[in-house]
Amino acid sequence: MDSYEWNKVFGWVLATVLAIVGLNIVVGKWMAPHQSGKPGMAVEVAETPDSSGPVVAEVKPDWGTVIPAADAAAGEKVFSRCTTCHDIAKGGPNKVGPAIYGVVGAKHASNPTFTYSGSMKALADKTWGYDELDSFLKNPKGAVPGTKMSFAGLSKQQDRINVIAFLRTHSDSPLAIPAPNPVAPPAPAAPTDGAAEPAGEVQAPPPGAAPAATPGATPAAPPTGAPAAPAPAQPAPAAPGH
Ligand code: HEC
Repeated sequence: MDSYEWNKVFGWVLATVLAIVGLNIVVGKWMAPHQSGKPGMAVEVAETPDSSGPVVAEVKPDWGTVIPAADAAAGEKVFSRCTTCHDIAKGGPNKVGPAIYGVVGAKHASNPTFTYSGSMKALADKTWGYDELDSFLKNPKGAVPGTKMSFAGLSKQQDRINVIAFLRTHSDSPLAIPAPNPVAPPAPAAPTDGAAEPAGEVQAPPPGAAPAATPGATPAAPPTGAPAAPAPAQPAPAAPGH
């Protein structure tokens, strides 16, 4: 008798605990999104421009794609933030910063009439390519610690692209634009032109047509067991120079 009573009691206690735990889980699920959804937190994490360090998620632009598409006029506007210190005209004067006509593709610290910082001079054998300019303009002191360019940086990628495109044109021999990365284009919609989709009833294939197993689908089925790589001759040309 007693043990039955106790069992009942335990049973209720257990049920209560389970209910509380369950309630917690449910409530937690409801509440959690509300809390983390508050704008401040998430945005701050995403935008922190702190590091040029390992965790930066920003992908380098594909210069072969973005430079031809860049808005150099917009870049000129961005460059108005640089003009207190830089003249872009050919033969222009040094200001606080060096005259930078032709800087895209030039070596670092290449203007012989300007007194660069030691850290910039130390990079004198390095070219100002697209990536280097991008990093430098994003965060000058991060990219070239010790630089005397006192400029916070252009945080917007598109601003940097546009201003680099603008700078690039101000040169006797504008730096070559690399070939764009091959990107699989979005699949063109229409598989074939003439033959409309068989609407269920089509039974007799047009007389001249090839056996046409399936009109639209199955793009690249290699016929008769042809091996994928036909010529076993060439091993991949592994970087010759290095
Ligand atoms: C407050 C002045 C100032 C501003 C604003 C400024 N710069 Fe500079 N910039 C400098 C100085 C000074 C140097 C030389 C840095 C050194 O020697 O470390 C420099 C160097 C450079 C260089 C390298 C030049 C070379 O010959 O190696 C480039 C490129 C450059 N700046 C581009 C820009 C662009 C683009 C902007 C605007 C988005 C800009 N700067 C804004 C002062 C400035």
